[in-house]
Amino acid sequence: MAQKNKTISLKTDSGSIDLDLKEATIGPGVIDLNSLYSQTGLFTFDPSYSSTASCESYVTYIDGAEGILEYRGYPIEQLAESSTYLEVAYLLFNGELPSENSLENFRLDVKTNMLIPNQTKKLFQGLDKDSHPMAMLTTAMASLSSIYHDEIDIKNHDDQKKFFFNVLGKTPILVANIFNHRNQTTIGHYDEKLSYSENILRLFFGGSGEYEINTVFAKALDILMILHADHEQNCSTSSVRLTGSSGTNPYAAIAAGVAALWGPAHGGANEAVVKMFAEIGNKDNIPKYIAKAKDKNDRFRLMGFGHRVYKNFDPRATIIREECHKVLNAMENEGDPMFELAQELEQIALKDEYFIERNLYPNVDFYSGIIYQAMGIPKEMFTVMFALARTVGWATHWCEMQSQPNLKIGRPRQLYLGEQRREYVAIDQR
Ligand code: CMC
Repeated sequence: MAQKNKTISLKTDSGSIDLDLKEATIGPGVIDLNSLYSQTGLFTFDPSYSSTASCESYVTYIDGAEGILEYRGYPIEQLAESSTYLEVAYLLFNGELPSENSLENFRLDVKTNMLIPNQTKKLFQGLDKDSHPMAMLTTAMASLSSIYHDEIDIKNHDDQKKFFFNVLGKTPILVANIFNHRNQTTIGHYDEKLSYSENILRLFFGGSGEYEINTVFAKALDILMILHADHEQNCSTSSVRLTGSSGTNPYAAIAAGVAALWGPAHGGANEAVVKMFAEIGNKDNIPKYIAKAKDKNDRFRLMGFGHRVYKNFDPRATIIREECHKVLNAMENEGDPMFELAQELEQIALKDEYFIERNLYPNVDFYSGIIYQAMGIPKEMFTVMFALARTVGWATHWCEMQSQPNLKIGRPRQLYLGEQRREYVAIDQR
């Protein structure tokens, strides 16, 4: 006998309706509301999607109450400890960890695409070197759609793969061009003997030919890249999915993700955190800023604190705090005043009733800037570094979405609260 689907009953004024329940592999299941409007004439209201699953996905799992983050089922702590960014990129895209051979082929596929088109090179000349690097990245990413468009069939698996490798190969080059354009320096050359993250440092700093790779920085950068690679249906990934659901050019969809990431409530928080540390200045001022963060009449928030999903701790922040110790220790700078201030601020906030009651903990952006800064990457570039790492997540989600047979254009509803006038008033009668 066929098993009956699990349902949930919803009582309405005109009776009761049954809605299907869908179970997750782990974590909360969902109520399928597809038939709600046709059955009741009602929509649901969830403007910030706090209780709404927008898609089915096989990529990343977060348990916010327990502070768990997993890519394709593997805990983030194990990936950060034992794998490399390229291995994680392979895992996210293919769903499995690679063999040595398949990882080498993957690396070559990424590397083959690490050339920047001439049109894009010229584009940077038209951008003010002092414009915000995220403005440059949004523009540069969108410009790829002017080059790669006509030949892409977004439903064709081979074309999806080509897009994936192209965007993964080109983003480090775009980002390194932005860094060097800002500094009016020359971009370094890719070196076959170096790892992906070592090459990023070389592209950034190696233009004069004299740059020696610092292995502690390269390791820390690789870990930061792993931790930022994906985070399920966050604001920027959802922007990529929503934009991509119309069937638009995939590079344009990724540009939408970059634009969404820029905001200080999302990836822009890493830059905002370091600006906040500078504004606080020294430990004596911490109580004043804690009070400001709690004051509902003050727009100030403790940047790098709080998360929509994590209500216990953000496992990425724990790993990054540890990495800060390693990097600063290797630089014989354990007493770095910014790191000292950050740790003190964390300790004071974590003991404060306001932060305890609301489950506010440091997130991924609280400590990451301290490492980037130690590497010589300026604060305006921090969100670009986040975008560089997150491109793999965006591209993976875009490919997953395009491969799903039931894809429809994303189109939320609204609760209309405007006027109902119905009769036009001629201009001379108003
Ligand atoms: N400082 C002070 N109060 C805060 C903070 C904060 N950083 N975050 C949340 N709250 C308070 C908020 O005022 C509210 O209080 P009340 O219940 O009294 O009105 C309560 O905590 C719940 O906050 P919310 O704004 O409803 O929570 P949310 O899930 O909508 O927002 C957030 C999540 C990350 C946008 C928010 O915590 C925030 O603005 N944090 C600072 C910016 C930041 O660090 N963003 C990076 C997020 S992680 C990386 C990423 O997403 O890319």
